[in-house]
Amino acid sequence: MSSTNIYKPYLMQIEKILDEAPGVKTFRLRFTDDEEKNQFRFQTGQFGEYSIFGEGESTFCIASSPTRKDYIECTFRQTGRVTSALARKEEGDVIGFRGPYGNTFPIEKWKGKNLLFIAGGIALPPLRSVIWNVLDLRDQFKDITILYGARSVADLVYKYELDEWSARTDLKLVTTVDPGGETPEWKGKVGFVPSVLDWMEPSSEQTVAVVCGPPVMIKFTFPELLKLGFTPDTIFTTLENRMKCGVGKCGRCNVGKVYVCKDGPVFTYQQLQELPAEY
Ligand SMILES: Cc1cc2nc3c(=O)[nH]c(=O)nc-3n(C[C@H](O)[C@H](O)[C@H](O)COP(=O)(O)OP(=O)(O)OC[C@H]3O[C@@H](n4cnc5c(N)ncnc54)[C@H](O)[C@@H]3O)c2cc1C
Ligand code: FES
Repeated sequence: MSSTNIYKPYLMQIEKILDEAPGVKTFRLRFTDDEEKNQFRFQTGQFGEYSIFGEGESTFCIASSPTRKDYIECTFRQTGRVTSALARKEEGDVIGFRGPYGNTFPIEKWKGKNLLFIAGGIALPPLRSVIWNVLDLRDQFKDITILYGARSVADLVYKYELDEWSARTDLKLVTTVDPGGETPEWKGKVGFVPSVLDWMEPSSEQTVAVVCGPPVMIKFTFPELLKLGFTPDTIFTTLENRMKCGVGKCGRCNVGKVYVCKDGPVFTYQQLQELPAEY
């Protein structure tokens, strides 16, 4: 961190703002201090506290890959006080960032395996970080499959990257929108993520599944994966419990004995089954 005060944020300049979907923006952030930029390291799956002076902090995953140096990206939906203040910011403005915090996706252990990514709606950002991470190390993994769904075509985020992924021959991308969310031009599937997964029937052989989405999607996707032969220790997800300090001090995020900010946010389905039901 930039000083011994663990709550003191890095100052980050907003280099680029992209409007992803209604109420959803991506910021590309660069360190204003070169020394801090050179020292900064993170791993995929980690998150940070993004702040506006006088407004407060919001927790977002780091949505860019650690293989892309010099900047970090976050994608957020405008939901309340801090995210609304962030949404009013313009390119060139400076915001605060504390992090990286939390554990990581264990991609070292996934080398040589097939990877199946399943994301719903605004939950693509944490998976986008790990997807670009493994794509930048493409020869170290076997088949890569991505299933991404949103309520409607307008709600899909990273549309420019979905086009790029669908043009690649070294991965399989399936996109879907909920019934009624399609447009006349839509070429993807129409249906809820768990049903499309059932239709795809991906093999669970030597495969790791990474799932991130709204609770209802997760609820119906885990049983589909078990039906396909995935074991709970091969299914990964990332939790978004409300947080404050991000560093295991305030107790805001704990579930039973687990501090989601320190012990997570990445968990296997097996680990989730050992947590009290309220997670
Ligand atoms: C590890 C982690 C990673 C996250 N990554 C992202 C991300 O990449 N992009 C993104 O858009 N959001 C992400 N979130 C959720 C995000 O932190 C909250 O949406 C945000 O902090 C809301 O801030 P606010 O001040 O605008 O809202 P507030 O004014 O604090 O609240 C507005 C409304 O949102 C609800 N809310 C706030 N936080 C949460 C939460 N964590 N879960 C459910 N409801 C909540 C409140 O109860 C209230 O109804 C993540 C959360 C965690 C813990
Ligand atoms: S957010 Fe403070 S202990 Fe986890």
